[in-house]
Amino acid sequence: MPLEKMFVSDARDAAHVGKTVLIQGWIRTRRDSKGGFSFLEINDGSCMGNIQVIADADLANYKDEIQRLSAGCSVAIEGEVKASEGKQATEIQASQVTVLGWADDFPLQKKRHSFEKLREWAHIRARSNTFGAVARVRNQICQSIHQFFHENNFLYVHTPIITASDCEGAGEMFKVTTLDLDRLAKSGGPVNYEYDFFDKPSFLTVSGQLEAETYATALGRVYTFGPTFRAENSNTSRHLSEFWMIEPEAAFFDLADDMALAESFLRKILSDVLNRCDEDLQFFDQRIQKGLIESLRKVAETPFQHMTYTDAIKVLENCGESFEFPIAWGTDLQAEHERYLTEKHVAGPLILTDYPSTIKPFYMRLSDDRKTVAAMDVLVPGVGEIIGGSQREERLDVLTQRMAEMDLREEDYWWYLDLRRYGTVPHAGFGLGLERLVQYTTGMANIRDVIPFPRTPGNAEF
Ligand code: 4AD
Ligand code: MG
Repeated sequence: MPLEKMFVSDARDAAHVGKTVLIQGWIRTRRDSKGGFSFLEINDGSCMGNIQVIADADLANYKDEIQRLSAGCSVAIEGEVKASEGKQATEIQASQVTVLGWADDFPLQKKRHSFEKLREWAHIRARSNTFGAVARVRNQICQSIHQFFHENNFLYVHTPIITASDCEGAGEMFKVTTLDLDRLAKSGGPVNYEYDFFDKPSFLTVSGQLEAETYATALGRVYTFGPTFRAENSNTSRHLSEFWMIEPEAAFFDLADDMALAESFLRKILSDVLNRCDEDLQFFDQRIQKGLIESLRKVAETPFQHMTYTDAIKVLENCGESFEFPIAWGTDLQAEHERYLTEKHVAGPLILTDYPSTIKPFYMRLSDDRKTVAAMDVLVPGVGEIIGGSQREERLDVLTQRMAEMDLREEDYWWYLDLRRYGTVPHAGFGLGLERLVQYTTGMANIRDVIPFPRTPGNAEF
């Protein structure tokens, strides 16, 4: 009978003592004892911790192979799970060690490498403690997102990645074309998009919201969860050119419903991560951000603070802090302002509402004051904005008026306007940047270290 394959996470559990199992993974360290045996630390990614394997000198390949094992080698270990006398609960007494792959000159040696260096080795950085932990926490967050929406009757819809409409109206889109740019350059243009693949200028989406609205106004509650793209030349620790966004959209929701949804959504995710990723969070708490667990726990338990944009401006004007970017009513908040508000002023998550219409996209619902829109951003310490959302403008005349003010052509949005022509309803939604949430839950300082293969200006390796 073949041996039971076991993950390291299970083999570390005392409940499995006495079982004979097969463990497959990668060597983290080898230590030879004077007593004539070796300790192998094996990791298979199933958890942060390793399993310690004891390989005795009487194993057939002890001298030729086991004593040559080094960090990065892949191995299959057969042996018995035993109670350990060390700090760990269990260890494995090997009856057979099979080397699957050698790893001469493996770059991840015991010494710690900087995160910058590890970005150059993005294809192997997942084998380090930090990136393994980030991957597991990111996975847990994604599972919780789907579960939360499923439990709350939101239907998962897939919105297109290639689109002709600019949802945010900011013109930060990557063009998708099959035109031969070299030939075009030689011919000197002009570009005739009738010869292009989609017969008109097409782009990678910046948001699935507009398409999600079409399903929300038919099915009630929906969400999208997919890659989004921004051709914005921002080299910061919280911007990516390709990132993942979660966008719920709900019919018969107003701004208050939208904020309540965002809050219970974030709270569910954080409490799941706290309950299910304890070992990884302990690591982040010790190595990356002291006090992380305590602060996440507090956030998971306390109601979020709310403030209008107008009040936030007053706070910023009177706080005595010197900011790089000046602040006045009508200007967009910069990261430094958001961080002051959430880190110093409330020391926790903060929902800012009712922004000036002039700094927000066309689809946000105009308020009765005709100066602000029913917008909300969720800000958190360390990161700033993680969620941006709003109630949507459901009145056709107001919407077309705002589009005109922003120089958007109605014919480009004809189908979006149809939603207001046929059975329009109040509705609202938001977008959560997945990577910013992973940053927040792990304490990782740079967004490039919470996505496996970051895309930023000048970087598309791997
Ligand atoms: O605030 P944004 O631009 O909102 C929208 O796109 C709306 N259409 C969402 C909606 O209402 N359905 O983006 C939403 C979130 C931000 O709060 C931020 O967390 C993240 O997406 N985000 C980015 N994350 C990483 N890199 C970037 N360049 C990002 N731009 C936005
Ligand atoms: Mg935003």
